[in-house]
Amino acid sequence: MIISGNNPAHVQQAADALCAGELLGLPTETVYGLAADANNETAVAKIFKAKGRPANHPLIVHVASSASVNNFVSEVPAFAQALMTQFWPGPLTLILPRLPDTAAAAAGGQNSVGLRCPSHPLALAVLKACADKGVWGVAAPSANMFGRVSPTSAAHVQAEFGDALLILDGGECDVGIESTIVDCTRGVPVLLRPGQISRTQIEQACGLKLHNPDALPTAAPRASGTLASHYAPSAKVRLMQTAEWQKALAALGPHTQNLALWSVEKPANELMGAGLVWRALPADANQAAHDLFSVLRDFDARGVRTIWIEMPPDTPEWEGVRDRIQRAAA
Ligand code: TXA
Ligand code: MG
Repeated sequence: MIISGNNPAHVQQAADALCAGELLGLPTETVYGLAADANNETAVAKIFKAKGRPANHPLIVHVASSASVNNFVSEVPAFAQALMTQFWPGPLTLILPRLPDTAAAAAGGQNSVGLRCPSHPLALAVLKACADKGVWGVAAPSANMFGRVSPTSAAHVQAEFGDALLILDGGECDVGIESTIVDCTRGVPVLLRPGQISRTQIEQACGLKLHNPDALPTAAPRASGTLASHYAPSAKVRLMQTAEWQKALAALGPHTQNLALWSVEKPANELMGAGLVWRALPADANQAAHDLFSVLRDFDARGVRTIWIEMPPDTPEWEGVRDRIQRAAA
């Protein structure tokens, strides 16, 4: 059931559901989450079951403010503190050493925990109402079936889990791709997942080089968002340079079938047959991130079998989008 976030009673209803051990479709500025009380093992188990996600894949725990962090972690390195100060509330998740008796199931049994304070006003309101009742953290992976495209609207969440799930409608997500994840447990910051907050911004905020996981000797934690094939629509996705799709489209001519194209430039009129669905790829990286998952879902809904995506520029602000479309194509 979708309930409107405009009604303060609904925000309380959402928080009450979480505190009672129920699942909730929670709006955040990145994507919608499938939320549960992070310290309630039975509730957390419902998340893994609903998503079909392996139970050893850790979930992100959402907190109302950095004051709640000490309920979950044993230590916050100075560089992690700097990142928190600069980017919270916002689309940044920090992996920190976990206090043994907290959020064990949510953390997938690892001795670390991923924490994030989201900036969506409704997410914050729900988290504050939960904290008022002693629920300090809310575990929430993206509200999609394991391996599928993340949801950026309440309707997307309902399409994944049906009407039995309580979903708080917070409108379309601003950011559109999942949070940047920085592992802060290895002495230096390590980028586990790129997002809207770029590599450059992270390095500037903490004054340290941001490492890549594969460049470090110790094993990287399990992270489903880092599996090669993820964020996949039903249609087959292919990444192409501009000249490449132009040539391929010209070769197919106007009789194209079940094909979708996401490119900056619109194909020539004579190629725009009924079998081609075209959507404009924004030239701005943030706008492209905002549109990405809903464009993929829309292509799927139109029954296309193949999706061609124009390769965005190889610059830091496009890293999050490039990462998602590369995984969608894998
Ligand atoms: O933007 C987001 O981060 C969204 C919204 C709902 O907040 N959440 C999200 O959750 O993307 P999920 O579960 O789809 O992705 C969480 C990622 C996973 O790849 C998970 O493995 C990683 O975070 N993660 C969580 N805790 C971790 C830990 N202790 N160590 C390593 N990776 C962790
Ligand atoms: Mg996910």
